[in-house]
Amino acid sequence: MHTTAPRKVIFDTDPGVDDAMALYFALAHPGIEVVGITTTFGNVSVEQAAANALYLTAIANRSVPVTQGVSTPWCKPGEAPPDYIHGADGLGNLPSRVATTNRLDPRASAQFIVDMARAQPGAITLVAVGPLGNLSLALKLEPALPRLLREVILMGGTITEPGNVSPVAESNIWNDPHAAEQVFGAGWPLTMVGLDVTHRVVTPLTLFRRIAEHHRHPATDTLHHAVGFYSRFYSAQHPRLASDPGCFAHDVLAFVYLVSPALFTRERGCIRVATDGLAQGQTMLKRLAHLNYPQPGWEANRPLADVCMQVDAAGCLALFEQTLMADWLTR
Ligand code: RIB
Ligand code: CA
Repeated sequence: MHTTAPRKVIFDTDPGVDDAMALYFALAHPGIEVVGITTTFGNVSVEQAAANALYLTAIANRSVPVTQGVSTPWCKPGEAPPDYIHGADGLGNLPSRVATTNRLDPRASAQFIVDMARAQPGAITLVAVGPLGNLSLALKLEPALPRLLREVILMGGTITEPGNVSPVAESNIWNDPHAAEQVFGAGWPLTMVGLDVTHRVVTPLTLFRRIAEHHRHPATDTLHHAVGFYSRFYSAQHPRLASDPGCFAHDVLAFVYLVSPALFTRERGCIRVATDGLAQGQTMLKRLAHLNYPQPGWEANRPLADVCMQVDAAGCLALFEQTLMADWLTR
């Protein structure tokens, strides 16, 4: 039984299969109230991301404002979305979609974030699981945003784990490194949930089959289909996933951290992002607090962030299963 008031969250996302997994965890968990979904390019175009957010909420019978946000990186040229990972539609190439009637909120995602933060200062947590252009644009619209939001939790980056788009870069940060550098330097309470922990938690496809069979609902059927496609990519890439298909639990771990931070161990330090060159998208953590480096960029007065470095994988999987198996869907 959940006793405290649910945490109000704006979910900034590029759905995307693991984004869909995260959204349904958030909608199912009694400790989370999703007050808005802001979308960005990333796994798909921003138009497709917005359409998917509308679709996923509609088939789950939830009414949540959805906005469309940035369509390209801040400085560098955009690239074709990875249809071989998430499908051309971002949801594993669904064979068909049921008709839905929900419509976009007309505001741009960055404006929506600013409006909501101004209306409820200190109340809203921003959970970001895509490239960070919406958040960096919101900072430009409202420089006081770090004091208006309660907390920022982002899925992205990596400190010691090899990257997933280059040896040192994680996809969300690499997709808009200039935006990420601004977000890490903004000075808000920020926690990074990156590959150091998401590569430790594998969600097996059989779990999604059990969830779908339990609910027999369009929302969980859609999720099961999407994860099937996504798992084929991961199982081909990672030998340890070949015999028991599954996928990394990237985006959902940002929400798991929100409701169960004790499942993670963290380090604290200044994070900088490499914005160009071979290391583009690398997230660098100053791990030695006592050292004053002589090189510029690591001054002692720079904002600090928390980084999840270790995770109780079994605990995360148990929480995910318990939450998605609960009675959260209506017809
Ligand atoms: O690196 C993992 C991240 O990239 C996740 O947010 C996933 O959705 C992909 O875009
Ligand atoms: Ca994502």
